[in-house]
Amino acid sequence: MSHASQSYDFADSHAAYGELARDLAALLTGERDLIANAANTAALIYDALPGLNWAGFYLYKSGELVLGPFQGKPACVRIAMGKGVCGTAAARRETVVVEDVHAFPGHIACDSASNSEIVIPLLRNNELLGVLDLDSPHRARFGTSDAHGLEALAKIFIDSLQELRSTTENVK
Ligand code: SME
Repeated sequence: MSHASQSYDFADSHAAYGELARDLAALLTGERDLIANAANTAALIYDALPGLNWAGFYLYKSGELVLGPFQGKPACVRIAMGKGVCGTAAARRETVVVEDVHAFPGHIACDSASNSEIVIPLLRNNELLGVLDLDSPHRARFGTSDAHGLEALAKIFIDSLQELRSTTENVK
């Protein structure tokens, strides 16, 4: 499918994340390949959200996080569980919002432009698939509305990896 780049008005963050959720669901419909859907999710988020310098995935493999599809500058490849913002969110299995990465103990600096960060763990039936990581050059770029909005987008991504139940159901 094609996706026309459009601007979302984050002055009303709730409405913007709602539109983004609808567009992400449409973008991923009919495809369940993890790399393809992670790549398109990262691209859509990076294109849509203002004030980002990195957006992408670390995937959980053999007990550590390994760099997945992303937009932004090249990043560190492997992150141990419990290390950095990503490893902390993965180990705690909860979203971590960091207003000032320079004040976060153990923060892993991939891009020196980053000043704030949000990491959403990706959980499917209690199984850790990885994390969704966003960086911003602005201090305190991410808040509660971003956490809720991005958790909803992460769920759409995770659900897209399941069997194509809706497609099957549509075959009469
Ligand atoms: N800052 C992250 C590392 C990944 S980059 O931001 C892309 C961390 O501390 O886990």
